[in-house]
Amino acid sequence: MQYESFYEKSIRNPEAFWKEQADQLAWYQKPETILSKNEDGYDQWFADGSLNLSYLCIDKHIEDGYGEQPALIYDSPVTDTKKQFTFNELKDQVSRLAGGLQSLGLEKGDTVIIYMPMIPEAVFAMLACVRIGVIHSVVFGGFAPHELAIRIDDCKPKVIITASNGIEITRIIPYKPFVDQAIEEAEHRPESVVIFDRKLGVEIPARPYDVDYAKLVREADPVDPIPVASTHPSYILYTSGTTGKPKGIIRDTGGYATALKFSMKYVYGVQPGDTYWAASDVGWVVGHSYIVYGPLINRNTTVLFEGKPIKTPDASTFWRVISEYGVKVMFTAPTAIRAIKKEDPEGKLLEQFDLSGLKYQFLAGERCDVATLQWTEEQLKVPVVDHWWQTESGWPMLSNMVGVEVKPIKPGSATLPVCGYDIRILDEHGVEVGAEEEGYVAVKLPLPPGTLMSLWGNPERFREGYLSRFDGYYFSGDGGYRDEDGYIFITGRVDDIINVAGHRLSTAELEEVVAAHPAVAECAVFGVHCDLRGQKPLGLVVLKSGVSIEAEQLEKEIVQDVRSQIGAVAAFREVRIVKRLPKTRSGKILRKLLRSLANKENYTIPSTIDDVQIIDEIKEVM
Ligand code: COA
Ligand code: AMP
Repeated sequence: MQYESFYEKSIRNPEAFWKEQADQLAWYQKPETILSKNEDGYDQWFADGSLNLSYLCIDKHIEDGYGEQPALIYDSPVTDTKKQFTFNELKDQVSRLAGGLQSLGLEKGDTVIIYMPMIPEAVFAMLACVRIGVIHSVVFGGFAPHELAIRIDDCKPKVIITASNGIEITRIIPYKPFVDQAIEEAEHRPESVVIFDRKLGVEIPARPYDVDYAKLVREADPVDPIPVASTHPSYILYTSGTTGKPKGIIRDTGGYATALKFSMKYVYGVQPGDTYWAASDVGWVVGHSYIVYGPLINRNTTVLFEGKPIKTPDASTFWRVISEYGVKVMFTAPTAIRAIKKEDPEGKLLEQFDLSGLKYQFLAGERCDVATLQWTEEQLKVPVVDHWWQTESGWPMLSNMVGVEVKPIKPGSATLPVCGYDIRILDEHGVEVGAEEEGYVAVKLPLPPGTLMSLWGNPERFREGYLSRFDGYYFSGDGGYRDEDGYIFITGRVDDIINVAGHRLSTAELEEVVAAHPAVAECAVFGVHCDLRGQKPLGLVVLKSGVSIEAEQLEKEIVQDVRSQIGAVAAFREVRIVKRLPKTRSGKILRKLLRSLANKENYTIPSTIDDVQIIDEIKEVM
């Protein structure tokens, strides 16, 4: 098949195209209305269809005779554990947990927060929620209790599901105490906290709302999936915005299932029965779409890996997992590859493994530098596909659609638009720019199925943040350009979001914490280049007049504040004191200039800066 004609079909007649793709799913009620408007006037897909994600991920495959196929492989070098679950076993776990959740009073439309490490029970919890129409919100374990509290107050869960602990390279992460702290801080009170005890000897503080996961599942009756409307929210996933408050992306059910099924075949090129591995975390969108729902809907065996690319135990871990389970397609972030390359530049550790089963290596989550792409190609000797998407889209927007046609790879480009995404590069007035000209990356409406429906409790912010900037377009927040062949190159965010090791962070949120330090009068946090993590946050602070504090002490205190307020995952480690910050006449801090100075890039001094000495002062501390 030719990519161009397939893609054109999806843009010219989206309804016919996506109806055909929706037909690949087992609906309880097949949709007849394909694309329509919801009550707020936004596009929605398959409004009159009904289905269930848990059914599609599990029961359907059992009915088709694949109950004994491995569905989930759990590989945990940090606990030295390997386990497999067939679709039959997955059904047993999920249907009984769903029954247990019902016994706690959960009903269709209620919300649940899942705050868990990379253990099978996290996957069971997600699937159990969608089985009974409960909307889950998974919160990444690297976030501190304060961040969890913000999410508790925003989505008001009736129940939180957590575990005794997680395991990082150097320490234990006490999930249950973090949940208790977050509940103390939040205004909303969940009724129950379900705790999975990993039996690793970690103390679990007791609270009146505690429910033991193992007991709940043991005593529950299994329940069948319930049909939900295609437009029923399957989950809320919080992501960083440009303000201090994270945005709760709402995903539908029918559009999402259709898009994921489509992407497994046409973007990733996997067939039912293949083993697929996304080395991410269930707390991120990659985990939702490509550890849990995508592969399972497509009847792939999915790998749940609890470890890091290095030090668990070494830089050969990824290659071992690929060879041990016959992974056909793997997905990770460029940061992970950079970490491996740093430890094993010659790829010596790779030689001991048979990687002949691997067909494609996908990379996403951050810009992929050419050196990382080329090193991966040299080592793995398979096409390395850089593809671009975001929490909002839920599935790839730019990619080499290898299941359609493998296009030549151009390092630095995430290749071509994926079917359904009419991607345009616009200038600030919303006019398309020419080839090779940089602009704002936008998608002409309608967005394809599977993309965000709205923001939880805040449809205004949805419109403001994504649909108002350019009339008739969804604005991605990224900049980029298109070359003469139509390949798109993403150059980075055009807003105050930074990307640290593939993790998306809001500088506004970081600034709130830094500015709260008693010695700080004002501050700026921005992303600077980092060889390992792509970007790292750097904080510049101006002290309150009359305050004197050692720079080292101040840095220590602010770094600790960020760790305890936002979380270790921000990798916020550097603070510098400056006399003043460069600003526009209206008082806006010139972050772009600061970034250029820190990265030693070319810069022009804006006319708003009267005293150029300020530039020298900043340069001095960088
Ligand atoms: N729970 C709790 N803490 C976590 C965490 C989690 N799930 N994930 C990360 N952290 C902590 C780390 O322990 C670290 O803490 P420290 O400052 O005490 O050392 C901190 O957050 C920063 O984490 P990270 O940037 O991941 O650094 P690292 O040294 O642990 O690992 C890499 C470095 C490059 C190996 C790692 O960043 C990596 O694997 N990156 C790829 C991530 C990825 O897949 N992202 C894409 C999402 S699609
Ligand atoms: P997240 O929502 O956390 O997945 O982050 C999405 C953001 O990460 C995008 O808006 C981009 O800025 C960046 N990103 C993701 N994938 C790529 C890629 N392949 N190339 C460049 N940037 C990327």
